[in-house]
Amino acid sequence: MEITQLVQATYVVSGLLFILALAGLSQHETAKRGNAFGVLGMALALIATIISLAKGDPGTGRPGADWIAVVFLLAAIVIGGGIGIYKAIKVQMTGMPQLVAQLHSFVGLAAVLVGFNSFFEASETAMANPVAHLVEVYIGIFVGAITFTGSIVAWGKLAEKMPSKPLMIPGRNWINLFIIVVTIGFGFWFVIAAKHAHGLTPGALIPLIVMTVLALLLGLHLVFAIGGADMPVVVSMLNSYSGWAAAFAGFMLGVDVLVVTGCLVGASGAILSYIMCKAMNRSFVSVILGGFGAETSTGGAAVEQGEIHEIKPDQVAQELWDASSVIITPGYGMAVAQAQGAVADLTSRLRAHGVDVRFAIHPVAGRLPGHMNVLLAEAKVPYDIVMEMDEINDDFKNTDVVLVIGANDTVNPAAMEPGTPISGMPVCHVWEAKNCVVFKRSMNAGYAGVQNPLFFKENTSMCFGDAKATVQAIVAALPTA
Ligand code: TAP
Repeated sequence: MEITQLVQATYVVSGLLFILALAGLSQHETAKRGNAFGVLGMALALIATIISLAKGDPGTGRPGADWIAVVFLLAAIVIGGGIGIYKAIKVQMTGMPQLVAQLHSFVGLAAVLVGFNSFFEASETAMANPVAHLVEVYIGIFVGAITFTGSIVAWGKLAEKMPSKPLMIPGRNWINLFIIVVTIGFGFWFVIAAKHAHGLTPGALIPLIVMTVLALLLGLHLVFAIGGADMPVVVSMLNSYSGWAAAFAGFMLGVDVLVVTGCLVGASGAILSYIMCKAMNRSFVSVILGGFGAETSTGGAAVEQGEIHEIKPDQVAQELWDASSVIITPGYGMAVAQAQGAVADLTSRLRAHGVDVRFAIHPVAGRLPGHMNVLLAEAKVPYDIVMEMDEINDDFKNTDVVLVIGANDTVNPAAMEPGTPISGMPVCHVWEAKNCVVFKRSMNAGYAGVQNPLFFKENTSMCFGDAKATVQAIVAALPTA
């Protein structure tokens, strides 16, 4: 078999493995296998690329070995892989969203660099169809630049280095529209100028550079305009953008596996964004256009809402022991406290005592899609008692005790009133249970900064302290028989 065919066949196998990876990641039971497929696919793609450089690959216009490229590629793999392994080992589960946002920014930056490189060094093969190539370059740089700066702002908001409140610049929709119109106009200028000059010319470089600067600003503006509660959609949307940026880079480089991978990431990210918008009752168009049409809200600032009732772990233990049905609603605080192991212990003790224990998972609980599911799976909580919010929301009213473990925005009844940043977002109706116990450390608001009237309800008790220590104290206080 010719080297070109071998390389192409390996890329096809890699593409199939990436599809299997996505399929695996859609179910808890198969997620680990999905990850393994992804790693294997990426390893094969890298090996095929190294072989194609080392042996020379006439199919990509490189007839001879390119040892300098091989050395650069190996150095990049060692340095990039080393940093990746270090980051993956060091990152806390609570820091994953920020890390993902950082990784998206790298993909965006890579697409910008590949775009400029493909313009400066357009191969004869690429310039055989100049309009298509120049359009790829232009769109690839545009999407990459938005992804780059948008992901940096998303990282800043998720890491709480930047305010999570939406930045509502007056006339912001007009600013976005202006940038889009100028980008389209400059795109025509760029393609016409570069086509006539058969590639690199200052006349084409000017619109390309201006568009890049505008796209960088647009990325900043789009994500700054999105508020804390809508960040889940932004994260998956940037995931989608990074996929499309990679796909365009694949077109520019003529690497099919990058096109396939980019399209898979782009399409799955777009579907996830759509699902999240539905779950949050948000308009998809409004969110992708940086809060287009969103109302400026007061943030539901702290208002005196009455008395709270405090409860101690041993009293919670007794309530749970006497209950026949319990629903646990976890949130970001469970991840911060790393309380999932203690929660799993509590669950198995109560189930052994005959209590019907189930979990209610809000689609945006935590800081990552599926964040709670991952933690509970890690703690070996049986999958069949972990329910999606929609499956269980009607059952709260027939439940004896609800434990809200480090959740806040996702159980906030203020979402059902107008005028707050979370208004319209469906929430878990925990207050409908006979008794509701909230585990948190203070009276602080949740991620969206909205005060929570749940804490002041007659049937709600507050159990203050770190969630892990509190749940462990409850397990210790459970009767032994
Ligand atoms: P949040 O509203 O973030 O509230 C978490 C609560 O946990 C806080 O009120 C905090 O109160 C408590 N907490 C923190 N550390 C704790 C600890 N060690 N022990 C006990 N409690 C602790 O959580 P949520 O209900 O899961 O809502 C998620 C929010 O994040 C939503 O607004 C969502 O839109 C946003 N978001 C989600 C995602 C995804 S994809 N899931 C991505 C980005 C943003 P104290 O400080 O008083 O303890």
